[in-house]
Amino acid sequence: MVLETEGLPPREPALRLLSAGWASHAVRAMAALGLADHLAAGPRTPEELAAASRTHAPTLARLLRTLAALGLCATDGDGRVRLTPHGEFLRSDAPDSVRPYALALLAPHVERAWEGLPEAVRTGEPAFPRVHGLGFWEYLAAHPEEGAAFDAAMTGGAEERARALMAARDLAGVGTLVDVGGGQGRLLAAALTATPGLRGVLFDRPEVLPGTEAFLTGAGVRDRCELVGGDFFAAVPAGGDAYVLAVVVHDWPDEQAVAILRACHRAMAPGARVWLVERVVRPGDAFDRTKLLDLLMLVLFGAQERTGEEYRALLEAAGFGSVTVHPVEPPWSIVEAVRP
Ligand SMILES: C[S@@+](CC[C@H](N)C(=O)[O-])C[C@H]1O[C@@H](n2cnc3c(N)ncnc32)[C@H](O)[C@@H]1O
Repeated sequence: MVLETEGLPPREPALRLLSAGWASHAVRAMAALGLADHLAAGPRTPEELAAASRTHAPTLARLLRTLAALGLCATDGDGRVRLTPHGEFLRSDAPDSVRPYALALLAPHVERAWEGLPEAVRTGEPAFPRVHGLGFWEYLAAHPEEGAAFDAAMTGGAEERARALMAARDLAGVGTLVDVGGGQGRLLAAALTATPGLRGVLFDRPEVLPGTEAFLTGAGVRDRCELVGGDFFAAVPAGGDAYVLAVVVHDWPDEQAVAILRACHRAMAPGARVWLVERVVRPGDAFDRTKLLDLLMLVLFGAQERTGEEYRALLEAAGFGSVTVHPVEPPWSIVEAVRP
């Protein structure tokens, strides 16, 4: 279970769990108010922090008290507030910052979809389109600010996914790596930076690519990388030696997931490899954040997190063979398959 239960009164664990969402809102407020950025240079008094964040000092003190109880900041003996190591991840400039994630995935349009979880469980259908009248990706395309926030959130974890891919597979022998649904390009940039001689193709929805262009240029790898806009249900770029899909397949129900993998299969030459970078659900009742993400996938997309065997079945249904699951550092696994 996610919470310590030892020594608590019997009802307390259940009560703590049902207030866990309020804790998320406190973290989102910390992100929205930029508190970690204001504490980046070092400890400040609550009054200084209130002035810097343009907040109501006595109310900010209450939020800080809760954030300290959640372990994100702490109060020094002289009354000044500082970030804890966990709180450092809320800074905008932290490598693998979680601030964009807090802003995008606790945003009101996502929260409204969560309200539909009971109905999603009754029907197996995603809540998001029922609540908003549009699928998640169409909604982001129609709301560019929220689309940009989502792209930034995905970028946050992409560095970690790149490390997982490179820990499990040697990219040195790969001529061209195609990143399907590559988003802002952070995974591809990390792969290109670490692997001289590697070339990249980034494929994503056309509206995502201006952000990708800027990111790859800033990372100094734009000249080794082609950007292609399109729809991965229709076709993906041909000619890659390896195709990576990082947290893409989990966004889709089985039928669409197989359709995306089939489009990759059509584009690939025999012997080319596909690598899925995903959180693989492990058996048993232990707490694993992947199980909560599974419910988010249900609510947003009618999709799911999967076990290794479930990924194997999708890849085989799309025509791939030699499927292997390489567990890397939790939560990441690389599911590899070969185009026969
Ligand atoms: C969860 S994000 C993953 C981004 C990136 N691979 C990463 O590791 O951060 C899924 C990506 O799929 C892209 N996508 C969604 N529908 C698509 C479609 N029909 N064709 C191409 N890309 C699509 C989204 O734009 C988004 O960048």
